[in-house]
Amino acid sequence: MSFPEKFMWGGATAANQYEGGWQEGGRGISLSDVLESGSDRFIKYSPSYRSDNTHFYPSRKASDFYHHWQEDIDLMYEMGFGCYRFSICWSRIFPTGEEAEPNEEGMHFYDLIIDKLIAYHIEPIITIEHFDIPLHLQEKYNGWASREMINLYLKYCRTLFERYKGKVKYWMTFNEINNAARLPLLCSGVYIAADEPFYQIAYQSAHHMFVANSLTVKMAHEIDAENQVGCMLALSTQYPETCRPEDVYAAYLQRQKSLFYSDVMLRGAYPYYTESFFRELNVNLKTEDSDLQNIAAYTNDYLAFSYYRTVVFHEGYRTTANTGGGIGDLNPYLKTSSLGWPIDPIGLKYVCRELQDRYGKPMMIAENGLGCEDNLSEGHIHDQERMDYLHDHIRELENAIDSDCNVFAYTWWGPIDIVSAGTGKMSKRYGFVHVDADDHGNGTFQRTRKDSFYYYQKIIADNGLNPNDEAAE
Ligand code: BG6
Repeated sequence: MSFPEKFMWGGATAANQYEGGWQEGGRGISLSDVLESGSDRFIKYSPSYRSDNTHFYPSRKASDFYHHWQEDIDLMYEMGFGCYRFSICWSRIFPTGEEAEPNEEGMHFYDLIIDKLIAYHIEPIITIEHFDIPLHLQEKYNGWASREMINLYLKYCRTLFERYKGKVKYWMTFNEINNAARLPLLCSGVYIAADEPFYQIAYQSAHHMFVANSLTVKMAHEIDAENQVGCMLALSTQYPETCRPEDVYAAYLQRQKSLFYSDVMLRGAYPYYTESFFRELNVNLKTEDSDLQNIAAYTNDYLAFSYYRTVVFHEGYRTTANTGGGIGDLNPYLKTSSLGWPIDPIGLKYVCRELQDRYGKPMMIAENGLGCEDNLSEGHIHDQERMDYLHDHIRELENAIDSDCNVFAYTWWGPIDIVSAGTGKMSKRYGFVHVDADDHGNGTFQRTRKDSFYYYQKIIADNGLNPNDEAAE
């Protein structure tokens, strides 16, 4: 056995890292437009952003998909994509988030993309919100910290579901929602000052997102019974650093902090450990009567997750909220990428089985990939490191599927180079296609196929690894 006949191969991007065109087509300013490149990226945004030309704001230009979408979709087609996961920029549809009617020019941009994908038999998979709320909603409501966001988000969802009824079937509500209490500004548009109760605000925001998620599932199914709405989490895992029971237990608790989110959205209830967990963090959720009923009644149809690397965790390890770092230490048994990320293909199989056991829902690998610096030599990029990573992860994914894990799609992260969310830089590249742009947004934005382009093309054509092809071994 191996990949099912209908398995969907493809790639994934996010508007804030790929689209650009930040002031075109009636688009409003998005929070991501004011996040600088650099180490403070996750904790603040520059109050002088409106006039500031000294800092670089990577998502404003990104890879300029806004002007290259036809060429890029042609490249996806050439690779043989069966699906393409992308996010819609909320402020392109509702510039402030509060308009009564959507911005028609913004809708039209996505109409063109979706129609072209469909013409190529590429299944569109839409992330409704990927690190990208309208700036106005951040400034007025402090993002998802406010309950007001639920109705504004539902209005946005209704617009999309009605417009793309019969065209788009797969949706995801929030990208990596389990970053809400780690990277609240990025994930939920919530700014938490140093003297404010961090966890109270972060988990209250997550609660609002859970309610919105459940009502979105309800709405999607009412509008079109064919709709499938996934939840999306970052689920690369942490192993215990040693077999000391204290370390094993600490790693288990750390994992629960992530699975907490999917427990709510897939099992339809706050898990048993919520009470002790919240007590420890001094969190008192404010809920309304129907919240828990909606969460119970409208669970997600599938689980989408990102998987990049694994780390190790020990008793007493302090995770650092807000900085983007601090999720564990390096595993001495794993080699690391040229940019220092541990590479763990077996971990992908492990996580698939873990999640299959826990939820038994269809799964999608919504992000997997290797970010590294590429060398362009005489117009060619020989990205062997990326091909090796791809090969090894596909091999273990195949093993997971062989052991009956129900994974229906795999979308490589950033198949055409995009800006890194973590660094805000272009030089950390994930693509099978090179984009000529530097870390300051300069360049021709010309697209060049890397060696991995042909390698992924072959994997897709063969519906998996061809046992006779040892190219990347
Ligand atoms: C995921 C995000 O966390 O990881 C993406 O959903 C992000 O937006 C990806 O780009 C890779 O991380 P980075 O920091 O290398 O871009």
